[in-house]
Amino acid sequence: MRKNRRTILITGCSSGIGLRCAEIMQQRGWRVFATARKRDDVEQLITQGFESTQLDLDSSKSINSALNFILDKTGGSLDALFNNGAYGQPGAVEDLSRETLRKQFETNLFGTCELINSVIPIMRRQGYGRIVQNSSVLGFVAMPYRGAYNASKFALEGLTDTLRLELRGSGINISLIQPGPIESRFRANAYLAFKNNIDIPNSVHSDNYVAMEKRLNKPGPAAPFTLPADAVAKKLIHALESRNPKQRYPVTFPTYLFTVLKRLLPDSWLDSILLKVSGDGKN
Ligand SMILES: NC(=O)c1ccc[n+]([C@@H]2O[C@H](COP(=O)([O-])OP(=O)(O)OC[C@H]3O[C@@H](n4cnc5c(N)ncnc54)[C@H](OP(=O)(O)O)[C@@H]3O)[C@@H](O)[C@H]2O)c1
Repeated sequence: MRKNRRTILITGCSSGIGLRCAEIMQQRGWRVFATARKRDDVEQLITQGFESTQLDLDSSKSINSALNFILDKTGGSLDALFNNGAYGQPGAVEDLSRETLRKQFETNLFGTCELINSVIPIMRRQGYGRIVQNSSVLGFVAMPYRGAYNASKFALEGLTDTLRLELRGSGINISLIQPGPIESRFRANAYLAFKNNIDIPNSVHSDNYVAMEKRLNKPGPAAPFTLPADAVAKKLIHALESRNPKQRYPVTFPTYLFTVLKRLLPDSWLDSILLKVSGDGKN
């Protein structure tokens, strides 16, 4: 029997979409376990009135202990999981070391998949559950210098499409949210990953990198059609509360546009448009 107050685990609640969705779901009466990677952020979340614990997607131990903490509080049940935590690793594909690419996948795919696989047995026992994946417009179209992030989000989309088929009849629904540009700390965090993991001055792309650094450091909205995180929360609510959750939820005009263009245009035309909107890699 489902209890009245539905429970949700959200990853990556230190800022941006995760934090805003945690606030909105709590306001809607959900019992929100707002997790974060760093201790200080967990303390901040607790101060803000959330139940919180550390969850670092790069660590199996952290995933296990976070889930045990939550299940202990709920008596072993969990209604929903919002896989939100991730980061963007900028840089041309030829500048990505194996280690840098691995790190991107550890967070955005492997940790996320491990968490899902830990939650599915609980949801199967319950006979219901909702899993929502925060993907991206870059989960189905590519942009220059986003290869690591593109690859991780394309992989997340593939994994999710497979899971949806495998979960049919289980009572567990899985949905993808595909945001375009959203106000958050995403660019600031991407800039750190760029500086830490890419050999900027020695790259054949160093001129374009200078322009890209300016974009990552630019105050204000990153791109035209940027929306607040509430736009993602609106789709999350549907994915969690509707009787018929959708497979995919586009968010922002660029996502709707590229969904259509990808279906209609030959690859060469789509490439030209993607190069143009990315300023040949400078935006
Ligand atoms: N903003 C956009 O324009 C946009 C567009 C499309 C998709 N998205 C997706 O939206 C989601 C949220 O991003 P955001 O825009 O809200 O950016 P954000 O403000 O940078 O938030 C990302 C969150 O993920 C967390 N995170 C990073 N590595 C983690 C790890 N190893 N374990 C657990 N959490 C980790 C971050 O924690 P720390 O603070 O500890 O780093 C932060 O809480 C991501 O999946 C992103 O790909 C964003």
